[in-house]
Amino acid sequence: MPAHSVLLAATALLLGIPTVLTLSNGVARLPVLGYNTWNAFACNIDQDLVLTQAKLMKSLGLQAVGYTHVHLDDCWADKNRSASGTLVPDQTRFSRGMNNLTGELHAMGFNAGIYGDSGWFTCAGYPGSFEHEAQDAQTFQDWGFDYLKYDNCNIPFDDIIREGMVGKYQRMSDALTQLAQTSRKTPIIFSLCQWGWEQVWLWGASVGHSWRTTGDISPNWDALASIINFNSFITQATGFYGRNDMDMVRLGNGGLTYDEAKTHFTAWALMKSPLLIGTNLSAIDDATLGILKNTELLAINQDSVQGSSVSPFRWGVNPDWTSDSSSPAQYWSGPSENGTVFMLINTLAEPSDMFFNLTESPWIRAGRQYSVRDLWTHTNNGTAVRNFTARAVPEHGVVALLLKDAGDEPTGLTPCAVWDNCASQNGTAVQG
Ligand code: GAL
Repeated sequence: MPAHSVLLAATALLLGIPTVLTLSNGVARLPVLGYNTWNAFACNIDQDLVLTQAKLMKSLGLQAVGYTHVHLDDCWADKNRSASGTLVPDQTRFSRGMNNLTGELHAMGFNAGIYGDSGWFTCAGYPGSFEHEAQDAQTFQDWGFDYLKYDNCNIPFDDIIREGMVGKYQRMSDALTQLAQTSRKTPIIFSLCQWGWEQVWLWGASVGHSWRTTGDISPNWDALASIINFNSFITQATGFYGRNDMDMVRLGNGGLTYDEAKTHFTAWALMKSPLLIGTNLSAIDDATLGILKNTELLAINQDSVQGSSVSPFRWGVNPDWTSDSSSPAQYWSGPSENGTVFMLINTLAEPSDMFFNLTESPWIRAGRQYSVRDLWTHTNNGTAVRNFTARAVPEHGVVALLLKDAGDEPTGLTPCAVWDNCASQNGTAVQG
């Protein structure tokens, strides 16, 4: 453990403050927003394609609303290392070299990301970094990369690795930490891609800045519902410097209705996942672009005061705490710098009204009323007293609200909004 973490842990212990050990090395305090090549292009990538997408990130206004990273995924490498064992970019597709590419990206104002693997080979069969961790970390830094996505394919046999999943990822984490110390350069952001194996949400924060919690996303409702359901049980793992990564934002590739696409983006943004666009931006439609550019949701994803995810307070269709990969929790809330955020997901295949009592959320004060801001219509929708009903939420659709304290509620209401263990001071009016 680095000295500052030991100090932090010891101080927290003395003060009785619970502490989550994070890789708080100064980078990736907030979710990373940007672009990744995998979903739209898989292995068909080259330097010009990456730069074309980067230029579109700029010209379409995505960079301006906060998407400041551009990441290569798998298949950038030559199949062979050099004689001295260093990684080599594909000579044809990246003929100008990686310094040229990152130089261009940096000149456009982007951070640059690269992809590697913790085993012998990447998932697509290119060289992995096992037993080359320090050398490859150095190479990535020399090439000018700011971010590393690190995959989980082709794990060495047990009698070679003699480590579990934590140790396997710790190897590169240590290499990156060491490199930052010796080079005195900004640490490379470390993104674990191991699909949620070995309960990564319990230990990922001490190894990296984000960790995939589920397998690869597909552009359909079932995939979204299943990822949201899984992540609904581990929201507490997300905070500043470390977060559940629900995989890329899979919009604009067909397969989702407009309402499902909004639900996808809302859940990822409010659950504070990294938001990495995986769309061919040359063919993006205005509706998808509009979703990606919802600045009110992006502001909550990038909240610099409240780092936590929204969490379910009621499952709705299912009894609370039910795991159902086709019908996740419906009623969610969380704190934000500017009020309490609510997310309502209509998991049904038909429109429905969605009702909640305000104090079902732990972030709401009893006896107060709240102004309601709709984060999709971008309108102020009056004042909520005691409860709120969203009318006719579309099939698989979403409602995202920001509730701000608007003072004491009107007088003359029933003593308690929720009669659970409510009592008058002398005990005469007791209910619940
Ligand atoms: C998978 C990973 C994908 C993509 C792919 C590349 O393991 O989950 O996001 O990186 O490998 O081969």
